[in-house]
Amino acid sequence: MCGIVGYIGNRDAYPILIKGLHRLEYRGYDSAGIALINKENELSVYKTKGRVQDLEEFSKSKDITGNIGIAHTRWATHGEPNNVNAHPHYSQSESLALIHNGIIENYAVIKKELLQKGYTFQSSTDTEVLVQLIEYIKSTNQCDLFTAVQLALNQVVGAYAIAVLERGNPNCIIAARKSSPLVIGIGDDEFFLGSDASPIVEYTNKVIYLDDEEIAIIERGKTEPKIVTISNVQKTHKIKELEMNLSQLEKGGFSHFMLKEIFEQPETLKNCMSGRVNQEATNVILSGIIDHKEKFLEAKRILIIACGTSWHAGLIGEYLIEEFCRIPVEVEYSSEFRYRNPVINSTDIVIAISQSGETADTLAAVELARKAGAFVYGVCNVVGSSIPRNTDSGSYTHCGPEIGVASTKAFTAQVMVLTMIALTLANQKGTIKQEEYEGILKELLLIPNKIEKILALNEQIKQLASIFTYAHNFIYLGRGFSYPVALEGALKLKEISYIHAEGYPAAEMKHGPIALIDNEMPIVAIASDNAIHEKIVSNIQEIKARKGRVIAIISEGDTEIKSMADHCIEIPKTKECLSPLLSCIPLQLLAYHIAVTKNRDVDMPRNLAKSVTVE
Ligand code: G6P
Repeated sequence: MCGIVGYIGNRDAYPILIKGLHRLEYRGYDSAGIALINKENELSVYKTKGRVQDLEEFSKSKDITGNIGIAHTRWATHGEPNNVNAHPHYSQSESLALIHNGIIENYAVIKKELLQKGYTFQSSTDTEVLVQLIEYIKSTNQCDLFTAVQLALNQVVGAYAIAVLERGNPNCIIAARKSSPLVIGIGDDEFFLGSDASPIVEYTNKVIYLDDEEIAIIERGKTEPKIVTISNVQKTHKIKELEMNLSQLEKGGFSHFMLKEIFEQPETLKNCMSGRVNQEATNVILSGIIDHKEKFLEAKRILIIACGTSWHAGLIGEYLIEEFCRIPVEVEYSSEFRYRNPVINSTDIVIAISQSGETADTLAAVELARKAGAFVYGVCNVVGSSIPRNTDSGSYTHCGPEIGVASTKAFTAQVMVLTMIALTLANQKGTIKQEEYEGILKELLLIPNKIEKILALNEQIKQLASIFTYAHNFIYLGRGFSYPVALEGALKLKEISYIHAEGYPAAEMKHGPIALIDNEMPIVAIASDNAIHEKIVSNIQEIKARKGRVIAIISEGDTEIKSMADHCIEIPKTKECLSPLLSCIPLQLLAYHIAVTKNRDVDMPRNLAKSVTVE
């Protein structure tokens, strides 16, 4: 949520900051702004409602010189998205400019005190309160900027990643974080700052990830930033090498990141299995599990916590783990789990699933589970993000940066990791027969090729999408492993096309949603082969009897459903437990094409942000 970028060095800061903002725009796109210090040591702030492109327009006639600056792209939390609430925020005397990602929870109390001291506020943001507090502390204590930031951060409650510039001080950026990520890029005689590495990777692959409650003093002429905690402990960080490369951050000829990411799935799933499933399909090893084998073998229960699409992957994980490992599994929304005083035991394993590794609710749920003594395992995509750093063990999904706000390749990689977790554990526990184990592994290795076949149906799905753009509602139905896929298919459509869609277990339809069915209602039935195939066949009959329009996802050669449904998308056969990896693909494409036909901004849908680092 919100993107932060900063630069200090010998080049012009403006183009680097603007490019960085474009790369970070997926994190929020309500407004954008920039602060620069020019050669005369003047501090200027330019900001506007809208996208980074609007900021570029707005800054055209302005002084954009200077080789130090900070910039921000916002996803509104406090205060509506408008010019005034956009970041950076000036302090009262306009001597400081600050950008912020996160929420200052006690801002109202601090604001009241500052108002009493004569401070006035332009915006309704918590961020402006912080910059005013820093200025107030600086002037009353007659201290330097670093000390003022340090003292201020000791007073605030909440989450922050911030960067601050000071008029007359063109040699230093102060940056700090707590619960919101911040990365410092180290170049030759220059430093970069980012809320993730995407604005940095073009210039350097050497980075430092700040930890919670750390403040970095990034100074011109130094080889490394100085890092001190808010309680004044000096820190040294190992410089890390980025695994990311620039081409992963570009559209590569596709019209949207989402489409590119859908088409990347054969490759990302191969990467996800690489070094884990052997080519002979006789074994899968997840070192995160093997290294803590005892813990997993004695686990009495597995709790899965996640949000959004990751929660849907968690539901598939529940089916897989219960099926193969015979361990009870519960799947919870992190936001519910963290506030409802759940029962957590030291014999529980908690699996936290998160693409970004930064989702605030999941991170808080992880902390809660660890405090209660559970062993916490992370399934994340972003290497070095907060959840992997705060868990006992875990597995990365290794699918590369996901830029499209609607998650696609991260979802299939999460399902793949959960499949490998279930199989590794079942093999260790002896709850799966060798023949079945090897049979599934053999099929798992074929998944990327089978996805290629589904991607070849892109044109057919595009045609189909054009028929259904009239609809205001959709129902997605599935049973067993296909039920979470129905939820995920509906979520994809909602997120990017703004069409209301509900996912439902097919048999539950009779208990309510069937009332919605008429000859206008499109129903997507995920009906690829499964053990209770005839049940979904009868559910489709129930819909047809009420004149609903059925789009069925079926296994190749299923003539029975083909004769009933209005439209069919045929996908390759696979084992039922692996079917979500295939059946979600046509649903991603269907949502994508409907959204494009409706002229929606697919990569940056309204009101959404890629990673939700606030509650
Ligand atoms: C946001 C994103 C979703 C994502 C969810 C959880 O809502 O728009 O695509 O599924 O957060 O994010 P995480 O990074 O924890 O998987």
